[in-house]
This record gives sequence, structure tokens and C-alpha cells, in this order.
Amino acid sequence: MCGIVGYLGKGNAKEVVLNGLYKLEYRGYDSAGMSVFNKKNQRFDMYKDVGRVAHLDSLVQSIDHSPIAIGHTRWATHGKVNQANAHPHFSASERFVVVHNGVIENYRELKARYLNGHHWVSETDTEVIVQLIERFSDELSVEEAVKKTVSLLHGSYALLVLDQDNPERLIAAKHKSPLLIGKSDKGIIIASDLVALAKYSQVYSPLEDESIVVINQAEITLWNRDYVQQELTFQPMDFEDDLTELGEYPHYMLKEIMEQPLVMRKIVDRYFHDDHIVIDEAILEGIRQADRLYVLAAGTSMHAGYIGKRLFENLTEKPLEVHIASEFAYHPPVLSAQPFFILISQSGETADLRACLSHLKKHHYPSLTITNVKTSTLAREATYALELFAGPEIAVASTKAYTAQIAVLAVLAAKVAHRDAGLRESISELAAKMEQYLTQYESVAELVKRVLTKQNAFYIGRGTDYFVSLEAALKLKEISYIQAEGFAAGELKHGTIALIEEGTPVIALNSEPHVALNTRSNLEEVKSRGAMAVTIATEAVAQEGDDIVLPNVDPLLVPIMMVLPTQLIAYYAALERGHDIDKPRNLAKSVTVE
Ligand code: G6P
Repeated sequence: MCGIVGYLGKGNAKEVVLNGLYKLEYRGYDSAGMSVFNKKNQRFDMYKDVGRVAHLDSLVQSIDHSPIAIGHTRWATHGKVNQANAHPHFSASERFVVVHNGVIENYRELKARYLNGHHWVSETDTEVIVQLIERFSDELSVEEAVKKTVSLLHGSYALLVLDQDNPERLIAAKHKSPLLIGKSDKGIIIASDLVALAKYSQVYSPLEDESIVVINQAEITLWNRDYVQQELTFQPMDFEDDLTELGEYPHYMLKEIMEQPLVMRKIVDRYFHDDHIVIDEAILEGIRQADRLYVLAAGTSMHAGYIGKRLFENLTEKPLEVHIASEFAYHPPVLSAQPFFILISQSGETADLRACLSHLKKHHYPSLTITNVKTSTLAREATYALELFAGPEIAVASTKAYTAQIAVLAVLAAKVAHRDAGLRESISELAAKMEQYLTQYESVAELVKRVLTKQNAFYIGRGTDYFVSLEAALKLKEISYIQAEGFAAGELKHGTIALIEEGTPVIALNSEPHVALNTRSNLEEVKSRGAMAVTIATEAVAQEGDDIVLPNVDPLLVPIMMVLPTQLIAYYAALERGHDIDKPRNLAKSVTVE
């Protein structure tokens, strides 16, 4: 994982890199570092430490204006979270400096083969890269040394290289990990995500796998995987940087929860023309021709996929299977004769999904990526792509991207089934009712204080409520660190009920009229064993005494409504425990390692 950023130009490189690192912090925040050219001693200085970008910011306060710098924010894969393992890394003589995002799978073999007896400063896989460049540069030009080094690497990398002997040059290389280059009349910036480029670029270009780029003040030279020089084609920067500002909210997560009605309206705006859904015919035909649909996804996106199963099976009568991306990639199931694959990924960079996609491409299966990032690798590499239009999601725990995924799946399923009629109105009405419910968001704080007093909790539900309960439990785990499980309400009694003790919180999600009473019975069963029972119900099935009652909406869209209080429950549980809500421990938003 990790985020990298580099800058070369007339602006203040330290400021540009720091700004980029703040924006990339969602990719990891175990440690942060920067190497910046010091005009006084004419060398690249190194600043790095355990902790957040804000800490790095305090370390580099006194640095003067500098034309060139690279930076890194880390999610540890190889080696503990400590200063030695923080990036950037120096080569042995300190001539070269490298930052890296990715995993070098054969770093042990490379050490043994080329660098036997070398003294290693860190436990990282990255250090081998910088040492190899130094070693090969004895006989080769620096460009050739970088090319030779990356040709030996197995795994994924986006890397930036600085050279003390030529401080006006920045070299970059990438394979599997994302890297984009942006340009303005003031300078050139290169980073893991568009969010880090936006403020400083008028145009940008995502780099293809196995490219190598050499950036000088005057020009950018690009080579492809065959070392053939390429033209870089830039596109205008259309990212609205101010959308990533926190504004009046104390946390991004709360801001993003509150933005969900707006996102629904945006989806209506982007996917409807009058009352008709507009989606590329090729996608619709691809799905219509398939005999079975397969959703591949991870985490929250996989939970949206389960709701998609219900939507597609109800509307199109096509069977849909949901698979965990990391499992599918290496243990694909027996597939139907004409499968169609839907990859759901808010970031569009999840490495487990990229591994799936290379399998799909090998077999020429059609694939559709549904993502929030239209420039992402999965969007570019799948046969088709659809955008979520949720706007940048900064909090690591996903909220608005999840509800956008469900809405886009509903739009897609309805269009495939020629059942557009009325959906526009339904989504608009949903947006209004979400807004109405969210005006009382603070009332959830009281409930959380009263109910979530233990270190464990259960969400239960049937049908789509069960699928929502999986997401509700994941959200609670991610940010409050309460051990939570989502459970099919009827299944709890077959073993797991043994965990119910006096005061164990059990939250029932209840929205489907034909099973509402069954879920109520299941809640009674745990209540009589001491559970602290809570009911979240829609008006359609509500009874007196229910803790949260949500407005009725189109049954297709109910999961979007049901998840709202569970997002707020997770938020307030984390707030009460004093956790870092937007950056929970051990997590990162974009998981670019398998
Ligand atoms: C990480 C995030 C989760 C997310 C999952 C899948 O684990 O912390 O919130 O659900 O990745 O990410 P994707 O970008 O593919 O939706």
C-alpha cells in the first residue's frame, strides 16, 4: 500500500510533497518521510519518522524553498513500524534515494544473488531496490541501472528515485501499483493518486504498467515495457480539489455519511436522461447474454455485491454469485458456460481484484468494474467501467461509496431488465428520506452510550437485512474495535447463541415484512438470555418500542436506508472510545498488496 509523491519545478517542493502526502494518507499512516534537496549543502536531506504526516510536517518546518523532493506515507508490509523502515531509503553510499509503494516478492533472492554480505539498514523489501540501482550504476548509466533493477523485480512497485549526482532529475517506474503524472506551467508532480496531483496540475496522465519515466526541469521522457520511447498523452485535470476539504465537520466519516443523499441525487443526474437510464449498450448486452453473473470484491464492496445479488436475481432473474476476490484469484470455482464478471471496488486499485482481473483476461471473460475512481487501474483494465460518482471518500471506513455501489447496481439491474420506469423517482424520494433521517443523527449517540458497553456485539437480520448486518458489523469493527458479527437472524441459535451473556448487544435489522416477525422472535430468544436487544426497523414493520424507525422507501433501495443508522452507531462508538475515526489502526483505504 503506501502513498508516494514527487515534485520537480519552480514551486516549493516541500509544500507540494507535504500537501500530496496529506491527501495520500488514506493509503497508510504508520510512518511518513521525505527527501528534499537542500540548496545550502547541495544534497538531498532525509526526514522520516514513525507517525502521521502532521509529524513529518513539524520536522520539515525550517526547510527552505527547494525545487525537488519525494515523499512517502507507509502502511507497513515488510518490517515493523519504526524509523529505520520508514521511507525514503538511502543506498549504501547515500547517493540514491528511493520511495516505493508495492511489494517486491523476490527481494530475498535478489539480496542473495546480487548483494551478498551487504549491511542492511532496514527490514524492508524496498531497500533492495535502492541498493541494486547503486550497484548497477557502477557500470551503467543511472537510467540503465534503474531499468535493469526493475527488470529483476517480481511483485508490484511504484517508485521514485533521486540521485545526489544529478539533483535536477527524478526517475520513476511502475508496475501494478498506481502512479500518475501531472503537469502545470510551474512544474511536474508524480503521485499514487489523482487527489495528490489535483492542486498542482493542469493536465495529467496515468502511467501504464512497466513504464519508466525520467523527469528533468525541461522535459519528461517515457519508456514502455519494451524500452521503446513513448509519447505521454495528457488529459485535462477535472478533479475538484475542494471536495476533499473537511469543512464544518469534525471527521470525514461524518461528512461522508451526511453526503449520501447528495450522492444519490448525483447518481440520478448522471445515469438518467428524463426517466430513462443511460448505460452503454455494450455493457447491457454483455450482461443479457450471460447465463450467470459473478461479483468479485473485497470488504465493504463485497457487502454491496451481496445486495447486488438480490437486486439482479429479483429484477433480471439471472443468477449472481458473490466471491471474495482474494479467494477467487487463486481458487476459481467451476464457472457457467457464459459468465459475466462485475468487479466492485471503490478505489479501483485493490490488488486482490487485480489478480482476479488478470485471470479473467487470460480467459477472455467479459468484465465490468464499478468504481469511484474512473482513472483507476481496474477501471482502465476491465472490458467496461461504470462510475459511482460518490466524490472522494477520505475516511478509511467506507460509507457513501457503499451506498453508491448499491444504487448503481440497482440502476444497472433495472436497465438490464428493461425496468427503468419509476426508478428515478424512487431514488430521488430515497435521497429526501435519507436527508430527513439524517437530521436526527445525533440521537444515535445516546443509543450507543446505553447499548454498546461490551467488547463484542451482534447485528442480525434476514434477507437483505442480513447482508446489511455484515456491513454494519464490519463498520463497527473497523473504527470502534468492538468485536462484531453480522448474522443471519435464524442461524444464531445454531451455535453462536452460546456467546450471548448478560448485556451482550444484539441489534436486529428488520425491514422485510414477510420475515419481520421471525426476526423479532430471534431477538426475543437472545433477550431472554440477557442480551441488550435493539431494533432498527422500517415504518412498514415497526412496532411500539422499536429503537430506530426509518421511513419506508422503494423495497429495492431499502438496504441504503437501513445501513444509515449502523454507520452512525459505528461513528459514535468510535468517538466515545476516543479513536482516530478517519484513520483506524492497522487499516488503509486502498489495499494495493495481496
Ligand atoms: C480495504 C478498505 C475497505 C474496503 C476494501 C475493498 O480493506 O479498508 O473499506 O472495503 O479495502 O476496497 P475497494 O477499494 O476494492 O472497494
